[in-house]
Amino acid sequence: MELNELLEDGRAAPKSGGALCIEGGVPLRGELRVQGAKNSILPLLAASVLCGGESVFHNCPELSDVAVTVRILRYLGCACQRHGKTLVVRSGALDRADIPDRMMHQMRSSIVFLGAILAKCGEASLSFPGGCEIGQRPIDLHLSSLRKLGVQIREEHGCLFCRAPHGVTGGFVSLSFPSVGATENLLLAASTGRGTTVIANAAREPEIADLACFLNRCGAHIYGAGESCVIVEGVPRLSGSEFTVMPDRIAAATYMAAAAVTGGTVLLRGVNAGHLMPVLSAFEETGCRVLQSGAELLLSAPERLGPVRHVRTMPYPGFPTDAQAPIMAMAAVGNGTSIFVENIFECRYQHAAELNRLGAKIRVEGKVAVVEGVPKLSGAPVTAADLRGGAALAVAGLCAEGETMLLHPKYIDRGYEHFERNLRSLGARIVRV
Ligand code: EPZ
Repeated sequence: MELNELLEDGRAAPKSGGALCIEGGVPLRGELRVQGAKNSILPLLAASVLCGGESVFHNCPELSDVAVTVRILRYLGCACQRHGKTLVVRSGALDRADIPDRMMHQMRSSIVFLGAILAKCGEASLSFPGGCEIGQRPIDLHLSSLRKLGVQIREEHGCLFCRAPHGVTGGFVSLSFPSVGATENLLLAASTGRGTTVIANAAREPEIADLACFLNRCGAHIYGAGESCVIVEGVPRLSGSEFTVMPDRIAAATYMAAAAVTGGTVLLRGVNAGHLMPVLSAFEETGCRVLQSGAELLLSAPERLGPVRHVRTMPYPGFPTDAQAPIMAMAAVGNGTSIFVENIFECRYQHAAELNRLGAKIRVEGKVAVVEGVPKLSGAPVTAADLRGGAALAVAGLCAEGETMLLHPKYIDRGYEHFERNLRSLGARIVRV
C-alpha cells in the first residue's frame, strides 16, 4: 500500500510494525510539547521502590523502556497504574529482591534498581547487565562504590549477589569517571543508609538533580546534587510523594534537528533550555535562529545549514553523547565539514554507515567522525541499530529526496514517545508500516 494511501485513509499500521516509511522534503512547521525525560523517569521509578506508600509521577513518557521498568516494579511487588501522563506507584514491603535475567537483558539500565533494592531489603541479586549496541557498558564503578558503603558483592555465573547485612553504611566515594548510573545507584543506596556518604566527582547531569529532588521530597537529605560533590545524610525511611518529571533534553534536541534539516520552524513547549546549552550553540553555529522564553524554545532554520564545526561529547555540562547522532544527521547536509569526537561510548557511530547509504559523506576513524556536508541526501532503506542512531536516521530521512524505509523502529520506541505521530503533527510524511 502506498504511503499516501496509508496517510489518507488515516489507518496507522499496528504499533509493532517493522519499519518507518518517510517521504523527505517537507519543511516542519508547528509546535510540539516535549516528553518527560526517559533518563529521569527510569531512576525515579527505581527510587519509588525505596519509598513506602504512594509515589505519583506526572509528565511520565509512554516509552517501551518505561513499560519494562513497570514490569520490574510489579515483579518486585509494587502496584503501578497509569492515568494518561501520570504514573502512580504503590510500594510497601517487597515480595522479591532480585531482577531475573530476562528483564535485565531487556533493559540493561535496570542496574539502577540495585541500589534501591539493596537499601530496601538489605540484599539484591541481579544478573550482570550485558553490553548493548553502543558499548560494553561496564558497571565496575557501581560495584566498587557500593563496596565502599559496606555492601558485600559476589559475582558468580553472570549474577551479582549483593548483601548489606548491617544496612548500607555511610562512606567516602570518589568516582574515577562521573558515571550517571553509578551516581544514581549511590544516591539510592545511601539515602536510607546509616551515616553520611560523600560522593566526589559525581555526575552532574540534570537527571541526577531530578532524582535527588524527588528523594528529598520523600524525606531524604541530599545536598549538592548537580554538582561534582554530593553529600547524602542517611535517614531512617522515605515516604512516597508527588513529582513532575523534567523535560527530555535529548528528545528536544532531536526534534530541533528535524526542524533544522528540513528548513522548518518549530516551537517546542515544556523545555528546559538551561539543560540544552551545549546543543543550542551547535544549532546556532549552523545558522539556525534559536529563541527561548521560559519553557518555550523556537527554532527557525536557514535555507541551507552551515556545518556544526567541532562536536566533542563530554559529561554534563559538556555536549551530551545522546545528542551526537541526531546532530550528525544535521551536519550531514551542512554546507561544510564537521568533526565529531565521541568520548563517552566506544561504539556509538553505527548510524554513520547508514547515513552514508542516504548519500552522506562520513568517515569514521576510532573516536573521530569527519562529516563532509552534502547538498542533498536521497532516500533508501536503512536500519536502526540503537536508540539515538535510529532517531538520527529518521531525521536524515525527513530531508532525503524520495522515500526512506527505516527498519527496526523498536529502538526508537525505547526513548521517543509517539515519535512518528509527533513528526506528522509538524507536517512530516512519515508512517509506520
Ligand atoms: C546514562 O547511561 C544514560 N542512560 C545514557 O543514555 C547516557 O548516554 C549516559 O548516561 C551518559 O550521559 C540512562 O540514564 C538510562 P555512564 P549510563 O555510567 O549511566 C563508563 C540514551 O541513549 N562506565 O555515565 O550507563 C561507560 O562505559 C542512553 O538515552 C564505566 O566505565 O552512563 C561509559 O563509557 C544511552 N564503569 C561512560 O562511563 C561504570 O561502572 C558513561 O557511562 C559505569 C560507566
